[in-house]
Amino acid sequence: MDRRFGGVSALLLLPLLAFAAALPHRSPSNSTGGGQINSNSVLVALLDSHYTELAELVEKALLLQTLEDAVGRHNLTIFAPRNEALERDLDPEFKRFLLEPRNLRSLQTLLLFHIVPTRLGSHQWPHAESAPARHPTLGSDPVHLSVARSSGLRAVDTAEVVRPDDVVRPDGVIHGIQGLLIPRAVQEDFNRRRSLRSISAILPEGAPEVDPRTHRLKKPASPAPAGSPPALPIYDAMAPGPSLAPAPAPGPDGPRGHFHGEALVKDFIHTLLHYGGYNEMADILVNLTSLAVEMGRLVSEGYVLTVLAPNDEAMAKLTTDQLSEPGAPEQIVYYHIIPEYQTEESMYNAVRRFGKVRYDTLRLPHKMVAQEADGSVKFGQGDGSAYLFDPDIYTDGRISVQGIDGVLFPPEETTAASTTAAEKKVVKVVAKPRRGKLMEVACSMLGAFGQHSHFSSCQ
Ligand SMILES: *[C@@H]1O[C@H](CO)[C@@H](O)[C@H](O)[C@H]1NC(C)=O
Ligand SMILES: *[C@@H]1O[C@H](CO)[C@@H](O)[C@H](O)[C@H]1NC(C)=O
Ligand SMILES: *[C@@H]1O[C@H](CO)[C@@H](O)[C@H](O)[C@H]1NC(C)=O
Repeated sequence: MDRRFGGVSALLLLPLLAFAAALPHRSPSNSTGGGQINSNSVLVALLDSHYTELAELVEKALLLQTLEDAVGRHNLTIFAPRNEALERDLDPEFKRFLLEPRNLRSLQTLLLFHIVPTRLGSHQWPHAESAPARHPTLGSDPVHLSVARSSGLRAVDTAEVVRPDDVVRPDGVIHGIQGLLIPRAVQEDFNRRRSLRSISAILPEGAPEVDPRTHRLKKPASPAPAGSPPALPIYDAMAPGPSLAPAPAPGPDGPRGHFHGEALVKDFIHTLLHYGGYNEMADILVNLTSLAVEMGRLVSEGYVLTVLAPNDEAMAKLTTDQLSEPGAPEQIVYYHIIPEYQTEESMYNAVRRFGKVRYDTLRLPHKMVAQEADGSVKFGQGDGSAYLFDPDIYTDGRISVQGIDGVLFPPEETTAASTTAAEKKVVKVVAKPRRGKLMEVACSMLGAFGQHSHFSSCQ
């Protein structure tokens, strides 16, 4: 599909750029400048070997160029953990930590710790009686070669060498080892992150109790969870009113930035896109407004959010009039964000117990009414209501995303909007391709900036 939206670029999409800057990007390849790598190289052998998990991590860590350069200068000894060591035996939390884009450096340090810039064949291990032999690695810490007393097997640090000289090439050798080697610096990074998280979990609201089996709330967080205001009013933290001005680029986490909100928002938008059927909502959050950035900031500051995401079918029923007022997309989305962490289960329990529940929304002072209907949760009233359609699309303890099958408006507005809306609905939906409506809105926004004519599809 032709996504001309990219052409709008700078003005509208600055927030997106700030957002994209947080994504990992490949370092520019420099293969033309460097020497050609020999197909008989130990590096090529590694990528081709049965150490697929390690090879994949090396690629994810964007280390190929570094290793190509290294193998041009030295022979390499690579200690390659078995696949199982990286798949099953690794603490999942640690693995997640390694794979988070912001921890790229830790991943690189860890992998380079497995590579010694010299050839060490199995015959070069120290004898059982002698002291361990210390060798600098491509990482910051050295490794120690020894012979394990118990098994008599060769070892590197704490890992036994289970396949000595597994791959031998003119420029290096690969030894298969039992487990992953974790340099102290990375272990410390991980511990610090983890303790930060457990400290921050009590600020400023109690984290909900999540059942580890179901990944859902164990019980409604308190006797009257629904509709009760958060400890600190989120409204104090919100940007002053919707604005089309680019949001300031998010700075590095300050001392108050306990949560990496940006990363969580990015996660949930990816999840939304992969889930399918919620592209319009994702598009509005990322491309049409700076709300993704704004949400990331709020979450970084410790707030929790539940997003009721209307599916594409619901979005397609919006009329141009409903969208084209300045700030309308923001206002619509703000009404779909509840400043609490709610899951399908907690909301369902609440409406079952209390009948009608009123949730605050980020669109002050409007609240959102929810009630039980047909064994599900129904939001809003009358014509302007929507069912919880795709429960728990994304839940991470800070952000919860619930798919709904309608776009909701505050009660006062539905009457005014729906009459005019109803007339146009049919024509619009049938006539316009999916992007049409958002495109129109984008154009009207550009018009407001006097940029109309720069953009061919706006004419
Ligand atoms: C690319 O290769 C050239 C020549 O080897 C080198 O001087 C330059 O620093 C390299 N650039 C990068 C980005 O690696
Ligand atoms: C790698 O080791 C081989 C055999 O020991 C040697 O001939 C070659 O010069 C070494 N290569 C480098 C770049 O040191
Ligand atoms: C934002 O726009 C770009 C360019 O048109 C598009 O590739 C991307 O998928 C959009 N993002 C979302 C979340 O829809």
